[in-house]
Amino acid sequence: MCGIVAYKGQKDCFPILLDGLKKLEYRGYDSAGVACLVNNKIDITKRAGKVKELERAIAGKKSSKNCNGLGIAHTRWATHGEPNQKNAHPHSDESKKITLVHNGIIENYDPIKKFLRSKKIKFKSDTDTEVLVQLIGYFYNKGMLSFEQSVRAALQRVDGAYGIVILNTDFPDMMIAARKGSPLVVGIKDGEFFIGSDVSPIVKHTQKIIYLNDSEMAVIDGTNYEIKSVDKDVSLPKKVEKIDYKIDDFDKGKFKYFMHKEIHEQVTTIHNTLKGRSTKSSVLLHGLSEYWEEIKAAEKIYITACGTSWHAGLIGKNLIERFAEVPVHVEYASEFRYNHSIMDNKTIVIAISQSGETADTLAAISKANDFGAITIGICNVAGSSVSRETNCGIHTRCGHEIGVASTKAFTSQISILYLFALKLADSRKRITKTDMKKHLEMISDVHQKDIKSVLKKEKSIKKMAKKYQNASDFLYLGRGLNFPVALEGALKLKEISYIHAEGYPAAEMKHGPIALVDKNMPNVFIVPKDKTYDKIISNIEEIKSRKGKIIIVTDSKDKILRDLSDDLILLPKTNQYMFVMLATIALQLFSYFIAVAKGCDVDQPRNLAKSVTVE
Ligand code: AGP
Ligand code: GLU
Repeated sequence: MCGIVAYKGQKDCFPILLDGLKKLEYRGYDSAGVACLVNNKIDITKRAGKVKELERAIAGKKSSKNCNGLGIAHTRWATHGEPNQKNAHPHSDESKKITLVHNGIIENYDPIKKFLRSKKIKFKSDTDTEVLVQLIGYFYNKGMLSFEQSVRAALQRVDGAYGIVILNTDFPDMMIAARKGSPLVVGIKDGEFFIGSDVSPIVKHTQKIIYLNDSEMAVIDGTNYEIKSVDKDVSLPKKVEKIDYKIDDFDKGKFKYFMHKEIHEQVTTIHNTLKGRSTKSSVLLHGLSEYWEEIKAAEKIYITACGTSWHAGLIGKNLIERFAEVPVHVEYASEFRYNHSIMDNKTIVIAISQSGETADTLAAISKANDFGAITIGICNVAGSSVSRETNCGIHTRCGHEIGVASTKAFTSQISILYLFALKLADSRKRITKTDMKKHLEMISDVHQKDIKSVLKKEKSIKKMAKKYQNASDFLYLGRGLNFPVALEGALKLKEISYIHAEGYPAAEMKHGPIALVDKNMPNVFIVPKDKTYDKIISNIEEIKSRKGKIIIVTDSKDKILRDLSDDLILLPKTNQYMFVMLATIALQLFSYFIAVAKGCDVDQPRNLAKSVTVE
């Protein structure tokens, strides 16, 4: 989950590493640290808290001026041991020769720690990571194995996931990186090397990238490098890819938080996702062409994802079943990977992921690949593990999403699923030419003005949010396509304001959650004027008669809604698909303003990380 950045070259390390950590901070931010080689000794600085604490500490050090071109840095998302200075990375072995940063989890740390303790090795931290570095040190200091062999010997004995970068003071011109389960990327530029847990800290320096695969290591020695297997001492061929990646996305512009900026960007991101992907009569998804014959003949579809992407999957199920009439099962990737799913080569597995690096989603893809299913990735990050490990896929193209709470990625994922459902329906002859044309007209005019008009309501949404900032629980209720919107609205609120919120199908609420309702409890109803309208009104009445507060998000001007509600967000009249987008955006703003009113750190909420690269 953490961010790793490492540098080997001739320049002063600190500015490169600190700048890299700031770019990676969205991945984990409970503590941070840097280790550089200064006068052939490892100089480590660590701090609990954000990267700016580390930056302050480094600014006060003399050594910060003469670090001779070899350094590793880390921003942590703790799995083992409290997020404090002692547990922050980098960690060293007892001899202080070997130092590493680690992303992931060493699952069998306990027996290894016991073994090392029996050899009188003392531990300084509570982390699983220290066990790995001590194990490397144990092998190396026995004097039988080289640095590289010691790394390999240790990695062959650990279970779990790792992305690591390692230094050894005996080899001041060397750096070793290795990965299994946690992403690691190597950037190359005329004798300089940049390593990152994603490309964001690297692209500023070079666009020549090598993506390490699982069980691969990069051994950098002087200005040479070699990609090798972790399992045996063999060289592997490696493709250097040229990436085209903009870094100006990292600017907040006029906004205080990235999340706010990203909510506003949806005026263009939804459009960018859809752009060029349809004609007047058909949907074009070139990324799927090679496998389209198989996809079209699918007997069953699984959609697998986590969090917000899973909510998009629920909307996808509704659309695919509605248009293309193929049964769809939506499963949390963390469950799918261990469930007894029934798959064969007539099964399609769609994995949805903003980051493309979510560990559970990757494990789900790997399981589907093993079963011979066709795997499709719907992913925002080109070159990410999801893009590379699925048979085919579609990029959401909504630009870098930095706020931990996903916003624009969700509406882009829905847009892709909409296109996919229509294309499948068309190929399977389940949609008439006229209906297809109607949908495609709607897609070509993506209602930017409607999105703008929702964004223009932010003043009133902000005012409303202030009223509810002290509530301790919320219910979000919707039906059909808007049940996932309710789930997503509740998740957004929980994530950034720490208020407990639950999403439910509006009618299901009677089967339990209604017990929570009292005069203090806000209930957010998503009420499009569609065939569920009258039923939802009855559900609202049920809550109202128990004195619950009623917040309505609707496209209807009906008086009854105004009478029933304590607060109401009126969306422009569009169609049921666009309603989903507009209601989502309104609820994103609502959560955002509640979190701001409560003084929460919106972009980096407590305990969360943008990219969940551990199981
Ligand atoms: C969204 O607001 C969350 N931070 C989280 O639920 C996220 O959607 C989930 O971790 C999946 O991430 P992915 O889309 O990058 O795979
Ligand atoms: N498991 C390690 C720790 O808790 C690494 C966590 C991370 O990926 O940030 O320190």
